Amino acid sequence: MAYFEWADDMEIDRGPIDQDHRLLVEQVNALHTATSQGVGQEVVAELLEALERDTIEHIRREEHFMHSVGYPETEGHRKGHQRFVDELRVLRQRQAQGHVTVAAQLSQLLRDWLSVHIRRNDKDVKVFLQRRERERDAAVLRGG
Ligand SMILES: [Fe+2]
Ligand SMILES: [Fe+2]
Repeated sequence: MAYFEWADDMEIDRGPIDQDHRLLVEQVNALHTATSQGVGQEVVAELLEALERDTIEHIRREEHFMHSVGYPETEGHRKGHQRFVDELRVLRQRQAQGHVTVAAQLSQLLRDWLSVHIRRNDKDVKVFLQRRERERDAAVLRGG
């Protein structure tokens, strides 16, 4: 069993958002494996760098998506993303300065944040889209 297991209730769009999330889950697992095997600091640094880059790339894509569908809670969601990226950056810098313990904490922090954020905040976007779809169908049925 993987350290961070993908589950069906994390599904958002069966498309690019899910692909990003799956990639991030894999990266957290790779980081966890690396740190529990006690690999060198440089390897951990590389994994963290890739993770930060792909997280930023994902967030950019997701925020663009929320904007394009007219999701009303974009601002609050964005702030959550920003706080996470800031935190990730600080931890990565500490790791680069040789704080060995940081790497072990990181996979847990990343797993917990991703798990909660996807299941709660990202899921809200899905719920919004599903509700709007139902409302549109109802309007069509009413002949409006
Ligand atoms: Fe998000
Ligand atoms: Fe996301």
